[in-house]
Amino acid sequence: MNPYPSKTLVDNDRFRSVVGHFASGVTVITTKVDGELFGTTASAVSSLSMDPPMMLICLNRSSQTHGAVKAAGAFAINILAADQDGLAYKFAKKGTDKFLGVDTDEVEGMPTLRGALATLVCRTVEETSGGTHTVFLAEVLEADSSDAEPLAYYRGKFGRFNPDAETSAYQKVRDWVLTRRDLRNTSVEIDSLVHELGIPRDQLSRAVVKLAADRLVMVGMAGSFTVLPITSELMLGCLDGRAAIQCGVLHTSMDSMNEGVVSEIRGIFDQMASAKNSHSTQMATFFELNSQLQNLVIGLSGSYELVQAFNRMGLGAVWTETVPADAWADIFDDTYQRRFVEALENRDVTAACAAVQNHAETTKKLASKMIDSHGGEV
Ligand SMILES: Cc1cc2nc3c(=O)[nH]c(=O)nc-3n(C[C@H](O)[C@H](O)[C@H](O)COP(=O)(O)O)c2cc1C
Repeated sequence: MNPYPSKTLVDNDRFRSVVGHFASGVTVITTKVDGELFGTTASAVSSLSMDPPMMLICLNRSSQTHGAVKAAGAFAINILAADQDGLAYKFAKKGTDKFLGVDTDEVEGMPTLRGALATLVCRTVEETSGGTHTVFLAEVLEADSSDAEPLAYYRGKFGRFNPDAETSAYQKVRDWVLTRRDLRNTSVEIDSLVHELGIPRDQLSRAVVKLAADRLVMVGMAGSFTVLPITSELMLGCLDGRAAIQCGVLHTSMDSMNEGVVSEIRGIFDQMASAKNSHSTQMATFFELNSQLQNLVIGLSGSYELVQAFNRMGLGAVWTETVPADAWADIFDDTYQRRFVEALENRDVTAACAAVQNHAETTKKLASKMIDSHGGEV
C-alpha cells in the first residue's frame, strides 16, 4: 500500500543534480543484430545476483541500442578504463558510425571493445519497464577483466576515482594561488605549503612550475615562488582562449549532440537562472553550475585533454574573491548564456558561437572594470 498517494514528486532539476552525486563507473553496452553493431554509453548498470550470475542494465526506449538489445536478446557490458573517456563521449552520441576506428573483438557473437577494463557478455532473461527506460535482467555467459584503472563519472564529468596525484596537486595549489590574492607579489616558501595543503614537496614543486607556465606564479630562488597579480591582459587572454575552444568544439561536434545532452545543459542553465534570482545562493554555487555547463559543452569534443586545457584557463575563483558577495547577482548578466542554450536547442552553430563571443566580450568588459577598480591588478 503506497503510504504517500498524493505527495508530489521531487522536482526534475533537483533530482538530476542530487542523483549526479552518486559516483559510478562508465560502460558501453554493445550488441549485434543482422551483422550490424550497436552501442551506447550507459551508467545505469548493476550486478544483480551471484547465483546465477546476473547483471541488469537500464536503457532509454528512445535509444537505438535499446531496440537492438531487445532484438538480439544478448549484449556485452564493456566497463571502460580511465583512458577511454573518448569512447564514453563517442558512444553517448547518436549516429551510425560509432564503431568507426574502434577496435572490437567478438565473444559469444557479441562485439566487445578492445582495451576495456572489464567485459561481461550477457543473455537477457527478463525485461521490465520503469519510466522512460527498459530494465534488462540478464545472465552472464562470459566475464573478463584487466588491472587497468576505471573511468569514473561524477556530477556530469568524467574523471578518475583516484585522480593522478600530479593533477590533483596542481588543482589544489592552483585554487590556493587564485584565492590568496592577499599574497600577490609576495614570496612563498614551498616548504610552508607542504603541511597546509597536504601535498608532498616534489609534487608541490612540479605544480608550481605548471602554474608558472599559466603565468599565475613566478618561480623564485631556493624553493620559493611569488604569487603573481592577475592583470587584465591575462584575464582577457584566458577569456578569449576559452571562447575559442568553445566555438571550435561547437563547429566540430554540434552535429552529433543528442537530446539528452541538450536537456542536461538546459537543466543546468535553468538552475543557474534561478540561483541568480535567489538571494541565498552563493556566487561559488553559480560558478560551479557554470563550470558543469561548460564541461558538458567541451565534453562534446570527446577529448579529456581539451576539457583540461579549457579548465586551465578558468579564473572563476578570482571573481569570488573580488566581487562583493551581495552584488554578484546584479553584476553577472546571463542574457548571452540564455541565447547560447536556445541556439543549442535549435542546433544553430552560428547563433551559439555568436552568443559565446558576445558573452566573452561582455565578461571581458566586466573583468577590465573589476581589475581597474582594484588598481589594475588583482
Ligand atoms: C555518462 C553517461 C551515462 C549514460 N547512461 C545511460 C544509461 O544508463 N542508459 C541510457 O539509456 N542512456 C544513457 N546515456 C545516454 C546515451 O548514451 C545516449 O542517449 C546515446 O546517444 C544513445 O545512443 P543510441 O541511440 O545510439 O543507442 C548515458 C550518457 C552518458 C554520457
